Amino acid sequence: MPVNSPAPSPASSSNVEHSSRSTPVLQRNRLTLEYRLPASASNAPNAADGGQDVVFGLTQTPKSLPPKYFYDDRGSQLFEAITTLPEYYLTRTETQILLQDADAIACRVGACDLVELGSGSSTKTRILLDAYARQNTPLRYVPVDVSGGILEDTARRLIQDYGDLSVHGLVSTYEAALADLPATDLPRRLIAFIGSTLGNLSPQHCEQFFQQVSQALQPGDYFLLGVDRHKATARLEAAYNDSQGVTAAFNLNMLHHLNWRFQGDFDPGQFRHVAFYNEGDRQMELYIESLQDQTVTLKALDLTVTFQAGERLLSEISRKFEIAPLTADLLTHGFQMVETFTDDQQDFALCLCQRI
Ligand code: AVI
Repeated sequence: MPVNSPAPSPASSSNVEHSSRSTPVLQRNRLTLEYRLPASASNAPNAADGGQDVVFGLTQTPKSLPPKYFYDDRGSQLFEAITTLPEYYLTRTETQILLQDADAIACRVGACDLVELGSGSSTKTRILLDAYARQNTPLRYVPVDVSGGILEDTARRLIQDYGDLSVHGLVSTYEAALADLPATDLPRRLIAFIGSTLGNLSPQHCEQFFQQVSQALQPGDYFLLGVDRHKATARLEAAYNDSQGVTAAFNLNMLHHLNWRFQGDFDPGQFRHVAFYNEGDRQMELYIESLQDQTVTLKALDLTVTFQAGERLLSEISRKFEIAPLTADLLTHGFQMVETFTDDQQDFALCLCQRI
């Protein structure tokens, strides 16, 4: 699940060591869960953040909404479905690269705390855990996700499946996690941000993010980044306009989510999904386009918005990277590119960088 997905559900359990910022972390068993979620990240209707980001986005010209509103339960299911679509090569390709190169990554990084930002179900990460287990190299896994329910379920399964693994889960935004990573006895940290989620950050947000990662690490530590690469427009546009209409449903589901969350009256049938590649900016752009002149009210936000027929609301960007400029940008944040792992078609890249 993408790192900003708001679906927290703090779970409780008898044999899990729970902690918060005000209570010390005790390592009595192999599983520790730490809750650091601000109230503003809550998924409840009328949550404490008051939806100010929605008010802001819908009162700007052009209109926009943060992609985190894709991810209610149905949105998360639709995203899972997207990852298996024939046109959506990203997840499949990143998995292939991991299968091919996880041993090389484990060998290069060595014993470490693996901090994964936006860990979700940790499916792809298991490939890296398998490599560490095969090489008998010590590793502690520190998954970070805003969804407490998924994080706890996943962590439980992992300690069952990996007999030597310790897991310290952080139910947290990545900003809060990076500001204060759990202390470690292992010689290095490896921060992983895979799944192409970097592409969903604006260039400005991306720079801030690199800075936060850089500040969280010590010289010699590693950063593993999964990015989708710039390529022919037709392939990119097919990946975000799939023939079964799953991406369209995913995009329009944002309106259902806003209705539920903020007592809205969006009629998703009166909008359509639009996605195209902006080659100049090297980014896919997803829009929700109004099919007619219409007025929408979000009662809980005390907000009424008008749309003109054909007006588009930007719901997501998905940036596509070229390795040379990315390498140069990472260097300005104190990261040296150690190795770029890619697939035969050079569709996707896993970049292993080291903090200088
Ligand atoms: C989560 N993220 C990496 C996906 C992407 O490809 O940018 C989100 C997505 N949007 C439409 N399809 C997939």
